Amino acid sequence: MAEAQAQQRGGYADDGPASAEGGVRLEVDGEIATITLARPDKRNAQTFATWSALARIGESLPEQVRVVVVKGEGPSFSAGIDLRMFTPEGVPGQGSFSSAAKSDGADFEQRIRQAQAGFLWLRRPEIVSIAAVQGHAIGAGFQLALACDLRIVADDVSFCMKEPALGLVPDLTGTKPLVELVGLAKAIDICLTARTVHADEAMRIGLAERVVAGGDLDQAVREKVTQLLSTNRDAAVATKRLLQGARARTLEEQSVAEGIEQAARIKALFG
Ligand code: ACO
Repeated sequence: MAEAQAQQRGGYADDGPASAEGGVRLEVDGEIATITLARPDKRNAQTFATWSALARIGESLPEQVRVVVVKGEGPSFSAGIDLRMFTPEGVPGQGSFSSAAKSDGADFEQRIRQAQAGFLWLRRPEIVSIAAVQGHAIGAGFQLALACDLRIVADDVSFCMKEPALGLVPDLTGTKPLVELVGLAKAIDICLTARTVHADEAMRIGLAERVVAGGDLDQAVREKVTQLLSTNRDAAVATKRLLQGARARTLEEQSVAEGIEQAARIKALFG
């Protein structure tokens, strides 16, 4: 699509003093939204401002968007939480873990819930989210990739759930999708050793849908977006809803749910 036709919204999804810290760019082109972590010089390290920016994008995403691509500028998808959080000075305007430790525990839990909101919306049935992952996806970076429905990765990808090595737990919504993708034993192995998962293993254990050469990542994502947009929008939403609910339902319950969704589809198509 010609540049002129591309609808660009949002620019940097930041405002106020935290802008430079958030470093998240949003572009919307018709049914496709692209979110870019844009602090390549800091390997797209994430702060609370990043997560607020992501949450705001989720809240204001135009209704026509069907596919959301999440990518990182530069050599790494994201090197995880900004390590300044571990220093006494912290991230300007956003505090540090030392200051959080001195605050009421409930306050910090609430802050974590707000941060998680930046990740959770990526699973909405109305959209399909794709993480385009190259280089390092560490800690919060790994969890951001896990927050997406699909992961297309470059052959230099290295996933690492580093939190336990730093005395923390992964708390940005990553534990459930990790277990669901790779199983409990493998998730324990990956998290409790904080080891690196490279492209071949990521593909083998179901973390990645596709591995491509680094230079082909954008093209591979474009191909997937085209495929996803080729199906009926309302059927896609209903089908994602069904698939998401499948694990928690019995076969009988799932069959009932299929019937309900299909009756609604038939009504919409032929009623
Ligand atoms: N937070 C803040 N700054 C970072 C981070 C980070 N997480 N990661 C990298 N940077 C900065 C570096 O300080 C450096 O800045 P400088 O140029 O001003 O010195 C710049 O990004 C480039 O980093 P390098 O280390 O030089 O890049 P390299 O490609 O050699 O290594 C790597 C990349 C492996 C990602 C390395 O930077 C690294 O290990 N980063 C820390 C990863 C980490 O422990 N993250 C926390 C995980 S836990 C969690 O997310 C909750």
